[in-house]
Amino acid sequence: MELDQAIQERRSIRGFTDEPVSRELLEEVIALANRAPSSMNTQPWHLHVLTGEPLERVRRGNTERMLGGVTPTRDIEDYAAYEGEHRARQIEIAVQLFEAMGIERNDKERRQDWVMRGFRQFDAPVSIVVCFDRSLLSNTIAHFDTGAMTYGLVLAAWNRGLGAVINGQGIMQSPVVREVAQIPEDQVILTCVALGWPDEDFVANSVVSRRRPVENAARFLGFEG
Ligand SMILES: Cc1cc2nc3c(=O)[nH]c(=O)nc-3n(C[C@H](O)[C@H](O)[C@H](O)COP(=O)(O)O)c2cc1C
Repeated sequence: MELDQAIQERRSIRGFTDEPVSRELLEEVIALANRAPSSMNTQPWHLHVLTGEPLERVRRGNTERMLGGVTPTRDIEDYAAYEGEHRARQIEIAVQLFEAMGIERNDKERRQDWVMRGFRQFDAPVSIVVCFDRSLLSNTIAHFDTGAMTYGLVLAAWNRGLGAVINGQGIMQSPVVREVAQIPEDQVILTCVALGWPDEDFVANSVVSRRRPVENAARFLGFEG
C-alpha cells in the first residue's frame, strides 16, 4: 500500500473481531514505530503490549472504578475542557459517531453504553499502553516524540490491515493499568492504543472525520514572485 493512501484512508477503529493478533505481527509494527524521530534521538517511549487475561483485568478495573465514581487519575496533567473551535470539532466527531451508530441525542442509556465501551477499549483484543520516561515529564519534547512514535505505530498497523484507536479512555484509571501491567514508577502513562482486526459490520468504523483545509492549518511565506 502506498504511504499516501495509508495516511489518507486511516481512520480510528472502534469495533473489532475476536481474532487474535500474533505477537510476531505486533513486534513488526512496533519495530517500524520505533523508527520514529525523536529529539536528539532520545527515544523516550516504552510500550506495554497487553492481551488476554491482563487486558481483561485492566478493562474490569477501569470499568468498575468509572462506574463507582472514582475520579479519573491520569499521570499527565489533565487538560481543561476544550473551548471554541476545539470544542466545535470535538462535538462534530461525536455527532458523526452517534449518527452512524443511530444513537439519539436524548438516548442516555446508549450514550452511556458507548462511553463504557471506550473504558473497555472497545473490546479490542490488544491494548498497547504508551509510556515515556518520568525524568522527562516536564520536557514537552518527550510528549511530542512519543506522539510521533504512536502515529507511526497506528499507520504501520493500518498498512497490515489492523485497525486501531489511540484512546485516553482506556487509561483514565491509570493506577489500575500500572498495577496490572506492572509498569515501573519511572515511566509516565501517556495514552494507550486499542488494536485488532476491524469488524467490517461495525458502522462507526466507516466514519471519516473531517479536517479543516490546508489554508486554515498552514501559512506560506515568500512563495509569490
Ligand atoms: C491522544 C488521543 C486520544 C484519543 N482518545 C480517544 C478516546 O478516549 N476515545 C475515542 O473514542 N477516541 C479517542 N481518540 C481518537 C480521536 O477521536 C480521533 O483520532 C479523531 O476524532 C480523528 O478521527 P480519526 O482518527 O478517525 O481520523 C484519541 C485520539 C488521540 C490522538
